[in-house]
Amino acid sequence: MSKFSHLTYRGSYALVTGASKGIGKVFAEVLASRGMNVVLVARSKELLSAHAHSLSEKYGIRAVTIGADLASPRAPFDIRTELASQNIEIDLLINNAGFGLSGSFLSHDLKQEEEQIQVNVQALTALTHIFGSSMAARGRGGIINLASNSSFQPLPYMAGYAATKAFVLYFSEAIQHELAAKGVHVMASCPGPTATSFFDGTSTNMSSRDFDSSLSVVEKTLESFDRGKSVAYPGRASVRVATWLSRFLPRSLVVRIAALATGKMGLHNPRRHISDHPSDLATRIAKRIAEAV
Ligand SMILES: NC(=O)c1ccc[n+]([C@@H]2O[C@H](COP(=O)([O-])OP(=O)(O)OC[C@H]3O[C@@H](n4cnc5c(N)ncnc54)[C@H](OP(=O)(O)O)[C@@H]3O)[C@@H](O)[C@H]2O)c1
Repeated sequence: MSKFSHLTYRGSYALVTGASKGIGKVFAEVLASRGMNVVLVARSKELLSAHAHSLSEKYGIRAVTIGADLASPRAPFDIRTELASQNIEIDLLINNAGFGLSGSFLSHDLKQEEEQIQVNVQALTALTHIFGSSMAARGRGGIINLASNSSFQPLPYMAGYAATKAFVLYFSEAIQHELAAKGVHVMASCPGPTATSFFDGTSTNMSSRDFDSSLSVVEKTLESFDRGKSVAYPGRASVRVATWLSRFLPRSLVVRIAALATGKMGLHNPRRHISDHPSDLATRIAKRIAEAV
């Protein structure tokens, strides 16, 4: 039982988007272990079916799969129709599906950038509206939206991604304020780098020591949710400290630090930017801070 949201896990239904792998797959497993029935959504139908079969065998819960491409604007409405046809009401929505383009903005096709907004923002908004409405009408429910440590500052070389995650954080905090009185608890979770397939295909040079596990992220997120938090910080301390920089430093300096951080992660070559301004004090300070976090 979540004390704050009065959500009874056992026997109720969670919908988890992006449940085929990574953090979403682990969310489904941990919720199933608490006795929740789960609705698993993603594009990879075979992976979803295998996971659903394993969860129902292991925990004796009902696991339903819905193959959906959330880059399609109609997908959230198709999910609603499918669930209504099965008489399933969602008590906990985990808006987890998402992806992040890395590299310079102009190196991406516009279509890729638009799909990133569609999946990370538009689908999340539509699902929150659809299921938030029915939760509010019933006077109970929960919504957890996956934001990121990227939510706290502009992030050169992951510009579109970080902007989508800033939306998720701000949106979630605001509607938590609106929906709390209706018995619906909304929370954003802001993980740092997590060991999933998220960085597959990117040029990242981070080592395995730089990543948290999906299980740790999920357990800390649910612990924060159960304590009634509106934002969860399930990453390590250094990730949390980095989120404070934008509160205290000038915005132009924060952007430079962020650019250096994506460079340090191997997502671009930051030296180009520094050599443009070899005697620029702000850039040298930014470099020192980026090395420290
Ligand atoms: N890993 C990190 O370092 C990190 C850090 C902070 C925040 N996050 C956030 O955590 C969430 C989960 O990411 P992850 O790390 O677990 O990544 P992941 O391992 O790549 O998993 C992403 C999930 O999203 C689904 N998905 C992607 N595009 C989709 C689409 N068009 N339609 C439906 N489902 C789609 C994928 O399923 P299919 O491919 O089967 O469709 C998959 O299940 C994301 O919102 C991400 O932004 C991750």
